[in-house]
This record gives sequence, C-alpha cells and structure tokens, in this order.
Amino acid sequence: MLDLAFSILAADFTHLAEEIAAAERGGGTVCHVDVMDGHFVPNITFGPPVVAAVRRVTALPLDVHLMIEDPDRYIADFAKAGATWLLVHQEVCRHLYRTLTSIREHGMEPAVVINPATPVDTLTEVLPLVHHVLVMTVNPGFGGQSFIPRCLEKVKHLRSLREELGLNFRIEVDGGIGHDTVADAVRAGADLLVAGSAIFAGPGQAAKSEANARDFLQVASSAA
Ligand code: DX5
Ligand code: ZN
Repeated sequence: MLDLAFSILAADFTHLAEEIAAAERGGGTVCHVDVMDGHFVPNITFGPPVVAAVRRVTALPLDVHLMIEDPDRYIADFAKAGATWLLVHQEVCRHLYRTLTSIREHGMEPAVVINPATPVDTLTEVLPLVHHVLVMTVNPGFGGQSFIPRCLEKVKHLRSLREELGLNFRIEVDGGIGHDTVADAVRAGADLLVAGSAIFAGPGQAAKSEANARDFLQVASSAA
C-alpha cells in the first residue's frame, strides 16, 4: 500500500482547507504537517493551533513532523490538537524510548525521523515501538530542496531489518520527492511518500494540484 502524504508547507495558507481538499481529490491519503522551531532547524512554521485547524477540515491521518528541540514538552499539546501520528527526530531525543512510549500513552502512534547524516543503526532498539520510520532525503528545514540519492541506502537497510526482525513498521521518505525521484524511493522500499512542492501548484491552482497528486501516485504505483 502506497500513501501520498502531501505536505501543507507548500500549500497556499490563505486557502488551506481548499488546498487540502484538492490534494485529497487527487488521491492524497495522509496530511503531513511540518512543525519547525527555528532552533533544531533554521526555519519557523506553525504549531498546535494549525494542527487543530487542519484536524477540523480533513478526516485523513495527520502525520505531524516535529522539527523542534525538546519535543517531550509538547506531546500533550499535539495530542489535544488531533495529531494521529507524531514524529520526533532521533537527533534531539536523549531518551528516545521514553519519548516514543509517551507519544503512545497520549493516544497517538509514534514515529521516528533520521537526518541524512544519522545512521539507521541508531534506531535498532526502538524499531518495535514505532508505527513508521521517516528517512529524511534532504536536510530538514525547507521545502523545495534537492533530493539526496544516497539516503535511499538507508531505506533499503530498514526494509531488510524489518524482514530480519519480523516487524511491520512502515518506511517514509521526505524531501525532494517528486515525479522524477519517487520511483527510486518506492523501489528502495518506501511506502509513505511525503511531497510538498511536487503537489501544490500555487494560489488559485487547485485543479493543477489535484492533477499533480494523481500523476505522482501514478508514477509511484508503476514502480511498486
Ligand atoms: C522539510 C520538510 C518537508 C517538506 C518537503 O524539512 O520536512 O516535509 O515540506 O518539501 P518538498 O516536497 O518540497 O521537498
Ligand atoms: Zn516533513
């Protein structure tokens, strides 16, 4: 099963509900929300109030990607806002096992994210706890960056570890995933596909965004 997790970072924020609806009509099945704090990553985006607003306009799972220092402080807030899956970076969690357990105790499914420089082996002990692992295919912080092909080696590694350990976590990729790169990501083993700039065509372009989502999924599924 392949899912397009459209990233609203690339959407027209003045018409967020319409943008989400267009991505859904095009076949998007997950709404990816990028939370950035200006510390862990250089950029600042949005927090729990925007997650709560998005929750009101879609029934899709909300894949909330925390690019923030000290995510433990905000777990309860994101649970209350309606996050379905809460993603934390390995690089900021000193007690990763505890953080992932706490996310589950708050009624969400936990997921863990690794930056391009972080090896898969840092996750071995927590793989049984997670709903999915997100392999960043750019350095986090901005939409519209170029895909780093080398990161797909980590996707392959995770796929074989999953088999070896008899687990069933899903594998997600995020960053520079578009019509030209998604096939390689799917062949490597990714099944949750985050895409922002490849989907949202800009203000007043909902029909084009919808078509982008449809074409993207067509390319992805022909590689599966
Ligand atoms: C980057 C974010 C991504 C971003 C992807 O730090 O985590 O989710 O929205 O954007 P594109 O698809 O444009 O690379
Ligand atoms: Zn993201």
